[in-house]
Amino acid sequence: MRRPVIAGNWKMNKMSRESVDTATDLLPLVASVQGVDVVVAPVFTALAPVAKALEGSTIQLAAQDCFWEDAGAFTGEVSPAMLADIGCSHVIIGHSERRQYFGETDETVNRKVRAALQSGLIVIVCIGETLDERESGTTFAVLERQATEGLAGLRAGDMNRVIIAYEPVWAIGTGKTASDSQAQEAHAFIRSTVASCIDQTTADAVRILYGGSVKPDNISGLMGQPDIDGALVGGASLDADSFARIVRYAL
Ligand code: 13P
Repeated sequence: MRRPVIAGNWKMNKMSRESVDTATDLLPLVASVQGVDVVVAPVFTALAPVAKALEGSTIQLAAQDCFWEDAGAFTGEVSPAMLADIGCSHVIIGHSERRQYFGETDETVNRKVRAALQSGLIVIVCIGETLDERESGTTFAVLERQATEGLAGLRAGDMNRVIIAYEPVWAIGTGKTASDSQAQEAHAFIRSTVASCIDQTTADAVRILYGGSVKPDNISGLMGQPDIDGALVGGASLDADSFARIVRYAL
């Protein structure tokens, strides 16, 4: 059985104080929930205070990106070791917004994934096709390339700290969720890609999250699909109540 994961990607939202408030509000709302990994990803500047607010709870903390070197002359970057040092257990890598606006490529994603694993973090690697790619019938080719190149060089033993997030770019922030069957089809394909590039046992165990306009009212249908193991939630994770409802409905 794959343990579900519900992760909230707060993107570039909330001042430090607001992030702490949301995390604090979330604590009692998910305290009794068992059987789901709950993760929140605030902005870099809020990570340390949110880590403190979450101390002793089961809610886990993710950064939204990292660099691949440990330290050095890389102005503006943050290393995986630094994230682990302040209490992050997870890091999101290769989000489509980073690919789209900040020049992230499958190669940089792979370097970051390997570095983050080296530092003991759990990585949430994001992949997903654009609308153009879907309409031109290249969805599977894109997913196969992003998964294969993003996970290149990883072995079966690394994969228990890898979570894949399938986020169709056309569904992000648009209110237009992939249908349950569209998402399931993509997830099953991604799982078969992991089987080809690593092995079947690893593919059966890897958790694949869906992301793109996930809300309390569509999570149950998505979670009912055999290859969907959770969600990476953007907008609906900014509010503690709606995020907590997603966590509860995920069961
Ligand atoms: P929305 O839930 O706002 O569509 O964002 C999804 C996302 O990009 C999560 O990483």
